[in-house]
Amino acid sequence: MPEIASRNHIEAISRVMDKALKDANVTIKDIDAITPTYGPGLVGTLLVGVSYAKALAFANDIPLVGVNHIQGHIAANYITYPDLKPPFLCVMMSGGNTQIIYVRDYTEFDVLGKTRDDAIGEAFDKVARVVGLGYPGGPKVDKLAQEGEANISLPKTHFEDNSLDFSFSGIKTAVINLHHKSPNINPADLCASFQRTVTETLIENVEKAIDKTGIKVIALAGGVSSNSYIRKEFIKKEANGIKVYMPDLKLCTDNAAMIASAGYYNYIIGNRNYLNLNAIPNLKL
Ligand code: KG4
Repeated sequence: MPEIASRNHIEAISRVMDKALKDANVTIKDIDAITPTYGPGLVGTLLVGVSYAKALAFANDIPLVGVNHIQGHIAANYITYPDLKPPFLCVMMSGGNTQIIYVRDYTEFDVLGKTRDDAIGEAFDKVARVVGLGYPGGPKVDKLAQEGEANISLPKTHFEDNSLDFSFSGIKTAVINLHHKSPNINPADLCASFQRTVTETLIENVEKAIDKTGIKVIALAGGVSSNSYIRKEFIKKEANGIKVYMPDLKLCTDNAAMIASAGYYNYIIGNRNYLNLNAIPNLKL
């Protein structure tokens, strides 16, 4: 409910800012840059953050640096691994995005592949709802899958040979249909099979991206990268000479530290915004 989300942001933002400064034991005068997310996302909530940041930056004469939310997810990796440096391939998996990104530099990106329909997190949430686990579904599917066997065959969508795009609507529909037509199927087996199939799809496209670019360094990002099975399967790829990075669990799902990390890399190369900064709900990388 976007309207309620916006109102909650308005109620929380001053309190959260005050607490963040207090916990960090600094005052606003110690801050070098204010780095709000300006997209992609819900316009109302983005506007709360952008407007608050503009007022704070103007009133305290601090530089304003707008941050792309997806860049934030990628930059979560630099907090967990201060030695990690571009170039690398990022597998961005969240509730709104699924992309394979060639991270050329801290602020330079090429999107090599993306979902043509549902994001992977949306598919996790839908599967959870269908089997009665509630929202947010990803962590619940992850947990239940650990009690099941991945013994159900589910469809994978493939595009033209050279495409790194994804589609998760087919598998989502297959899970819904199976659940309705065969009510005796064990939900844990269904979750485990769903998880295995989407992970195989992710890894197949990442392998194609490695062949295409010659880059053998992979970083995971986004809420779905906290999935225990996905993390385990990606780590196995290290046996093939691929280096795999994944943010600490608390940095995978949306958080402000990752936005500050991306803001820092924009700030040090001189990127600045001014009071005309606006929210862009469908902002691209
Ligand atoms: O990155 P994020 O916090 O928000 C967006 O920017 O979208 O991602 C949220 C998504 C939700 O769909 C949630 O179900 C999923 O991440 N998620 C997981 C897990 N933890 C969160 N999906 C699978 N396994 C998890 N353990």
